[in-house]
Amino acid sequence: MAKPKFIKDRVELEKLAPMLKAPIKRQVFVCTGKSCAAVGGKEVMAEFDRILVEKGIRQGKETKGRNPMGEVVLTECGSIGFCSIGTAVMVYPDGTMYGQVQPEDVAEIVEEHLEKGNVVERLALIQLEKPQI
Ligand code: FES
Repeated sequence: MAKPKFIKDRVELEKLAPMLKAPIKRQVFVCTGKSCAAVGGKEVMAEFDRILVEKGIRQGKETKGRNPMGEVVLTECGSIGFCSIGTAVMVYPDGTMYGQVQPEDVAEIVEEHLEKGNVVERLALIQLEKPQI
């Protein structure tokens, strides 16, 4: 396997990965692992996509209906250990881990947490401590 060339030049990096220029505030991970998928994980993911795209805040390619300058990155992920209490949703950098999320909860998470910065307490199971840097 060839080792990739390490790129130092920021302009070149931004050309290769335009998302580097986006004013990203948060990344949302939605688990669509086997157990979460069995209780609606794919539907939760689809609902986040629908609402974030509708609001124009999902970062991504315009060709996919997303906003290159969007402030929220939405990422599908595998199991994080909430398998019996899914669907698991994590919001970073806040470090909030939600469980038992259903598609009908997504609008509240978007409006309260992603837009206003208020954790949806009734679904929040873990609040990670902010790392000391
Ligand atoms: S499958 Fe989603 S937390 Fe395990």
